[in-house]
Amino acid sequence: MKKDLLCLYDLTKDDIDIIFDRTADLKARQKRGELYHPLQGKTLGMIFEKPSTRTRVSFEVGTYQLGGHAVYLRWTDTQLGRGESVYDTAKVLSRYLDGIMIRTFKQETVSELSRNADVPVINGLTDLYHPCQILADIFTVIEKRGTYEGLKASYVGDGNNVTHSWINAALRLNFDLTMACPAGHLPDATVLERAQREASSTITLLHDPREAVKGADVISTDTWVSMGQEKEYRERIKAFKGFQVNEDLLSCSKDDVMVMHCLPAHRGEEITDGVMDGKNSAIFDQAENRLHVQKAILELLMGKK
Ligand code: CP
Ligand code: NVA
Repeated sequence: MKKDLLCLYDLTKDDIDIIFDRTADLKARQKRGELYHPLQGKTLGMIFEKPSTRTRVSFEVGTYQLGGHAVYLRWTDTQLGRGESVYDTAKVLSRYLDGIMIRTFKQETVSELSRNADVPVINGLTDLYHPCQILADIFTVIEKRGTYEGLKASYVGDGNNVTHSWINAALRLNFDLTMACPAGHLPDATVLERAQREASSTITLLHDPREAVKGADVISTDTWVSMGQEKEYRERIKAFKGFQVNEDLLSCSKDDVMVMHCLPAHRGEEITDGVMDGKNSAIFDQAENRLHVQKAILELLMGKK
């Protein structure tokens, strides 16, 4: 049976630990300059309905480093943009490709692609989830802290796709997560309540950022205006006042708290320059780890069995 990565909720703790083990090995090999080509002769298709810097480059470079080839497919340059169905596209692309990564709006589009493709499908971000990002983030936690066991993570800002994947990660990996989001910009109630119901760890939603970061090992944030929400810019900037990750907020947390942001950042909005470039920032390590964690995912889903 083919395997997909649509959402962290679908994975077990063991699945995630295997991804992290493979990530550590692949990162070490790359740092040693060792060639390793488990994807030789394989091709990944990368469908983008939204813009990207990190996801596109890290998947393309990662596939190349594993000996495979990646094809960039901008949604509007394909027949999808002219109304060809996801079903037909899945059937056709399965005849050419060995795997598909897709960044799109609706999670249902990723699910529909996965149901109808004969090759693995990887979610490269939807409005609901960003699983590859949070795997890279937690791998970064492991590198810096040794383990995610006993982690106290916090998230400050918009209750969005990144938040939802943090929630699923906290559920599956049993770490505590405290979020602070302003009214009207809370995480999806279904995702949150399911996790709170099923988790053995504590998953809490607050409204006060200072309360949320107290005692936290990690403070994570994200843009206040996600892709597709540009028209809401003015309203959102107002709504998120008081939710900036700045030096003052860090002073409410541990000295060695790790600051994370999936990027792209809007410096001066959700995060200050001082914090982004300061001693607590793990932000560019997170970005690098997208490459290594996604190579592990590609190897596990598309590599020679
Ligand atoms: N973090 C992230 O997914 O970045 P891109 O939008 O640049 O791919
Ligand atoms: N929440 C952001 C993440 C970008 C990687 C967005 O969806 O635009």
